[in-house]
Amino acid sequence: MDNPIWGSDWPQVRGCWTLDPEVTFLNHGSFGATPRCVLELQSRLRAEMERQPVLFLDRALRARLDASLALVGRLLGTEAKKLAFVPNATYAINSVVKSLDFESGDELLILEHGYGAIIKTLQCVADRSGARLVRVPTVFPVESPDEIAAPVIAALNERTRFVVIDQITSPTAMIVPVKLIVDACRERGILCLVDGAHVPGMLPTDLDSVAPDFWTGNLHKWVCAPKGAAVLYVRPELRNRVAPVVTSHNFGMKFPEEFFWTGTDDPTAWICAGAAIEFMASLGWPRVHAHNHALVRYGRRAVAEMIGGTLPVPDSPEFYAAMAVIELPESVKFAGIEQAREFQGRLYEQFRIEVPMMVIDNRSFIRISAQVYNAPQDYERLGEALRAMIG
Ligand SMILES: Cc1ncc(COP(=O)(O)O)c(C=O)c1O
Repeated sequence: MDNPIWGSDWPQVRGCWTLDPEVTFLNHGSFGATPRCVLELQSRLRAEMERQPVLFLDRALRARLDASLALVGRLLGTEAKKLAFVPNATYAINSVVKSLDFESGDELLILEHGYGAIIKTLQCVADRSGARLVRVPTVFPVESPDEIAAPVIAALNERTRFVVIDQITSPTAMIVPVKLIVDACRERGILCLVDGAHVPGMLPTDLDSVAPDFWTGNLHKWVCAPKGAAVLYVRPELRNRVAPVVTSHNFGMKFPEEFFWTGTDDPTAWICAGAAIEFMASLGWPRVHAHNHALVRYGRRAVAEMIGGTLPVPDSPEFYAAMAVIELPESVKFAGIEQAREFQGRLYEQFRIEVPMMVIDNRSFIRISAQVYNAPQDYERLGEALRAMIG
């Protein structure tokens, strides 16, 4: 592969993960894998917790969470005091939207290509309050970033109360120019939450300059922290308006204090988030970003050429970072998501390749991911397997 950043140390980097060597893992986007050194730290922390649970979960916990959160803040371009740990992006978004009051006639807005669980969350809140959920059609394929933002901005009106905007869409893996939408909402006095589930570790981020009202990002995806680590950012002016979905001891202490304790749980993933950031930073974040983009770019072209697929997203880092979709040829048109999942299962059973299939607007896609443990051969293997399956 003609790739100047594919240095000789990358095979060693792959060895830092505990992934099954029999499996070609191309789905970091759904569930990121965690490096061995971070898993070992988590095991040590759990052992320590079980030796003296009260010391670990009570007296010693907060300092450890603060230290980890400081590293998260630095990665995301904001101060730790504007952030709270949460178990995942779904929890963060539920906490925000269920803290706000809506009434009949209000509109909540999300992209048609928004994440399924979050669309359901907004639908649930809309149903309870009599508000209306508006799903804005996403232009796809697109030719310019403005084409993604324009329909959202055009849908804002005097009834719009709350907007959720994905920063990287899950089904199409596209980067959304969220700043344009955040600013348009601010001008109109509409609250806006940016769903950056895939952003930490995938895109360089400067939250303080984007200054969304609310923002969430998973740390258990591209930062490679253990499962159950994510953050919620709240603009300081709004800190009195948001509480966790679960009420516990810190009730009334406002954001972020209320989020620090929502009942007994295992906090080791949160403590390990800082260590995961340090591990990835030791590889060099710019190098990680460049590597992952170059690799997914190679992968999408290689797979598309091998199977006669097409690339609906322009070839530019403005549009995609470390995930990409390839439209499958006509011969593998899925009737629906069930058939897509069946095909995905067969690909895994026969070839031990883990990669998701997507059905978007009645069209069929495959979504590939590239993380530092992946190599060009992974995508070549995928192309060959698909060719064998679809003939
Ligand atoms: C855009 C988006 N939002 C939210 C989520 C939910 O993440 P979690 O399951 O960690 O809450 C995902 C998961 O992939 C996602 O892609």
